[in-house]
Amino acid sequence: MKTRVGIVGAGPAGLLLSHLLHLEGIDSVVIESRSRQEIEATIRAGVLEHGTVELLRKTGIGARMDREGFVHEGVYLRFAGTTHRIDFKALTGRSIMVYAQHEVIKDLVAARLEAGGMLLFEVKDAAVYDLDTAQPTIRFHQRGKVEELQCDFIAGCDGFHGITRPSIPSRMRHEFTRVYPFGWFGILVEAPPSTDELIYAHHERGFALVSTRSPQIQRLYLQCDPNDELKNWPDSRIWDELHARLETREGWKLAEGRIFQKGVIAMRSYVVEPMRYGRLFLAGDAAHIVPPTGAKGLNLAAADVRVLSKALTSFYKSGNEQALKDYSATALRRVWRAEHFSWWMTSMLHRFHDETPFHHRLQLAELDYVVTSRAKAQTLADNYVGLPLE
Ligand code: FAD
Ligand code: DHB
Repeated sequence: MKTRVGIVGAGPAGLLLSHLLHLEGIDSVVIESRSRQEIEATIRAGVLEHGTVELLRKTGIGARMDREGFVHEGVYLRFAGTTHRIDFKALTGRSIMVYAQHEVIKDLVAARLEAGGMLLFEVKDAAVYDLDTAQPTIRFHQRGKVEELQCDFIAGCDGFHGITRPSIPSRMRHEFTRVYPFGWFGILVEAPPSTDELIYAHHERGFALVSTRSPQIQRLYLQCDPNDELKNWPDSRIWDELHARLETREGWKLAEGRIFQKGVIAMRSYVVEPMRYGRLFLAGDAAHIVPPTGAKGLNLAAADVRVLSKALTSFYKSGNEQALKDYSATALRRVWRAEHFSWWMTSMLHRFHDETPFHHRLQLAELDYVVTSRAKAQTLADNYVGLPLE
């Protein structure tokens, strides 16, 4: 098999890249180790930045998002028993969309298949070769047969545990990591919304977040031990913690309901530099991870592939390699901004085990500053709704 761009991974990065290239007349093949059912059912992120929303709309895949997603014009920060609103619309003129990642995946898969795109699911043992030549190759197994895909370029969109990043010689990889001493316990609940906009809560017992999926289904998270197991969290303990951490002096009530999904999410910051080796280009979680507090992971993946698709388009339309040469530096500027924002939100809102009362007071002072200083609120709002795309 031959294609122009071989894409490893059908997450948001890989599927969106394939879609954007298709709109420019550039063919690609996406290979994915999981089944279509599995990728369309994996519960992950939920917040789309203004620029991601615009990108999906402009490229013809925003219709269902506009029907079923929720436009939010702000978020609440809750600490010391009171709630404060950060008004995105007033501060930035922009808003965000709450629309689940697996719904974006469904929309992208449908669009690619409808356009006759090649998506190969349930491939095994993918490996990439000849990355520093003009014809890099992907080999994999499908239905017991060895397949070879010859490409002009390979996009490594296979997430944090994928095979493309480790295929770059280690001497060419500079890695930056921070692992946090906590995780998130995430649940899906059958209940009506308890709030009209997301609540990020700082509390002595740990962080909590109230998000939504639909008028009937709510998404909630609470800070937990990173090695915690589901069996340690019977429903009664989850509700006790959520009530305690979200309690206010304003008479707010959390609506309970049947919990039908539970999971523990690890928290880390990670960046590899550069995001390119020869004709392999990394995008999304394959190149970087942020802790989820800033809701940036999916949005960064979209921003990377927008830069990459423009660079590939420029190469195929005019033979100009400059944008491909600049890809890593261009993408990394946004990546490090998001790394900083995600680290800042995480540090300000979570309870650290080794924290002293002094540190705890500093967190409260910072939160108080965010909700009283327009400049500080603007910083949060600008970063949360997302900086303009390149
Ligand atoms: P992925 O979505 O990871 O997609 C990579 C794809 O590659 C997968 O489908 C995988 O099966 C496939 N793949 C891997 N290896 C191979 C291989 N060898 N061969 C073929 N295919 C392969 N972000 C937030 O902002 N908020 C959240 O609440 C949030 N929750 C998360 C919860 C979890 C459990 C995880 C893991 C991430 C979460 N994130 C969250 C981050 C966000 O979901 C990611 O940043 C986003 O999915 C990145 O997209 P991606 O396409 O780069 O990678
Ligand atoms: C959601 C996830 C996040 O990481 C976040 O910061 C806000 C909302 C969500 O899943 O809805």
